[in-house]
Amino acid sequence: MYRDMNCGEVSEADIGRELTLSGWVFRRRDHGGLIFVDLRDRSGLVQVVFSPDVSAEAHGAAHQLRSEFVIRVSGKVSRRPEGTENPDIPTGTVELYVSALTILSRSETLPFVLEDAADISESLRFRYRYLDLRRQEMQRNLVFRHRVTKLMRDYLDSEGFIEIETPMLTKSTPEGARDYLVPSRLNPGHFYALPQSPQLFKQILMMSGLERYFQVVKCFRDEDLRADRQPEFTQVDMEMSFVEPDDVISVVEGMLSRLFSEALGVGIETPMPRLSYKDAMERFGSDKPDLRFGLELKEMGDLAREGGFKVFLSALDSGGRVKAVCGKSMAGLSRKEIDLLTDEVRSFGAKGLAWIKIKDGFESPIAKFFPEGVLREMALRLEAEEGDMMLFVADREDVVLDVLGRLRLEIARRQGLVSEGFRFLWVVDYPLLEWNDEEGRFQAMHHPFTSPADADIERMLKGDISDREGLSSLRAKAYDLVLNGNEIGGGSIRIHNPDLQGKMLELLGISGEEARMKFGFLLDALRFGAPPHGGIALGLDRLVMLMLGAGSIRDVIAFPKTQKAVCLLSGAPSPVDEKQLKDLHIRLDAVVE
Ligand code: AMO
Ligand code: AMP
Repeated sequence: MYRDMNCGEVSEADIGRELTLSGWVFRRRDHGGLIFVDLRDRSGLVQVVFSPDVSAEAHGAAHQLRSEFVIRVSGKVSRRPEGTENPDIPTGTVELYVSALTILSRSETLPFVLEDAADISESLRFRYRYLDLRRQEMQRNLVFRHRVTKLMRDYLDSEGFIEIETPMLTKSTPEGARDYLVPSRLNPGHFYALPQSPQLFKQILMMSGLERYFQVVKCFRDEDLRADRQPEFTQVDMEMSFVEPDDVISVVEGMLSRLFSEALGVGIETPMPRLSYKDAMERFGSDKPDLRFGLELKEMGDLAREGGFKVFLSALDSGGRVKAVCGKSMAGLSRKEIDLLTDEVRSFGAKGLAWIKIKDGFESPIAKFFPEGVLREMALRLEAEEGDMMLFVADREDVVLDVLGRLRLEIARRQGLVSEGFRFLWVVDYPLLEWNDEEGRFQAMHHPFTSPADADIERMLKGDISDREGLSSLRAKAYDLVLNGNEIGGGSIRIHNPDLQGKMLELLGISGEEARMKFGFLLDALRFGAPPHGGIALGLDRLVMLMLGAGSIRDVIAFPKTQKAVCLLSGAPSPVDEKQLKDLHIRLDAVVE
């Protein structure tokens, strides 16, 4: 009725055939006698021609056609005359001469031209997302995302995983963000939380004997949004029984190498490299290092001691650190440019930026504080050569690492040092606990269900909450997967012993009562034969974004939200009427527009 084939699939094999096609008018060119239309559907474009010699009626009606009208055409496929072929599209050697035209739907003038949409504001694109999604790039992204998900599902199925849905109306899961709450009409004053992840349910499934679970699942986190964060996003979530970290890691590596080879034709080397959290921080100033370039951070504390630069010495004396990074080919920066860079580094949290140019010797306001031999040793460590600039930060350890880690990324970006390709990395040996200064208590580095390393279990069970140093040194059986400097997955082996889980909650300052209220069901289930288990969740949106080289996860999500968590297409969130609130037993304390 509507079509014999897709527009983008018409080929020379169809020459001479009578075909019916349907689609959108992409472009229309009126050449007096002939009217040309590029007809578009999801598969691509084909040129259709309206000629008064073929059908005066269709040709006459074609004058009404405008961009994005939806039409059906019937006619004969011909070879394009020599010299009029279009090598840029697969159907470029053929065209269809229209004998019958039906206008199925009309379009008003669009708020933006589809071909220019990549350059227009996101807010306009999101408001008219259905138009934005008509663009070839966006269609390619969504088709690719579908393919990625399908390949992962197929792989996991072949490895004995079963997909099980877990509730969306549930209790809070502590993944570290704020919850989205849903009021319960039937239970006044009670709320569901939308899951930040299916963490507790997938553990329960292991205790239920399902052994290998996965789910492509929406997660909800009310947190500050960035280019790689959405309030609702998708995980490929997995959990396995009777496993150690290596088992989980090898399933993920197998899945990703199959995925990259089949979706992109890219080979991935496995096993993927691993780095301890400590080494990642020391060498790259980040727990998600981008390995596509070098520029490693180097220790300068010992060398700083051999000079008389007060800023360095006083940082060291107060228990801080001095480290440096190589500003590759940056010795040519003017004083003004260095000042701007210093401002940027200050915005990262540093007090300042000390620099030494290697330019016919050492050029720097601080060079005078150091013997020549020490300066040479600094350059040697940083592998800095003529034309480079050494950049130092002295401060508290966490500030030094974080600031230099960010500066390292900035230098690589500016100097074009980021190489092509996909560099994976597992970050392992995380601390179990981290001290939260603001709240004056420990928090779980991963989440409260993560197991300590076997060697640390005894120490943990005996641990006392006042022993900050001892507890800080406990290691976790946790692992994060990093791709090109982005965290694309995180997981751990879980605690399966109720006493150990109780101890963990105690160390986190969660009282017995609070623990029962929040995750009593998990604590109960642990007492009835819980198998050792562990898993991981991959961030699907981020993974697809990186595979496609897209600039934001918003480009691989059909209906994303803005930085303010607003859906510009539907207008959510929005006020609700009095009656709805009343049904939910909710009274607002401020008038909302
Ligand atoms: P985690 O919190 O590390 O682990 O989340 C797993 C992965 O999900 C992605 N991700 C996000 N993507 C887009 N927008 C967000 N707001 C967002 N937040 C997280 C990241 C991240 O690596 N339950 C554990 C997993 C486990 O222990 O098995 C969890 O959710 O790519
Ligand atoms: P000052 O002694 O404040 O004039 O600083 C001398 C140089 O040291 C300037 O280039 C500052 O940017 C730099 N500087 C100041 N504080 C630090 C710091 N904590 N780490 C590294 N460089 C610093």
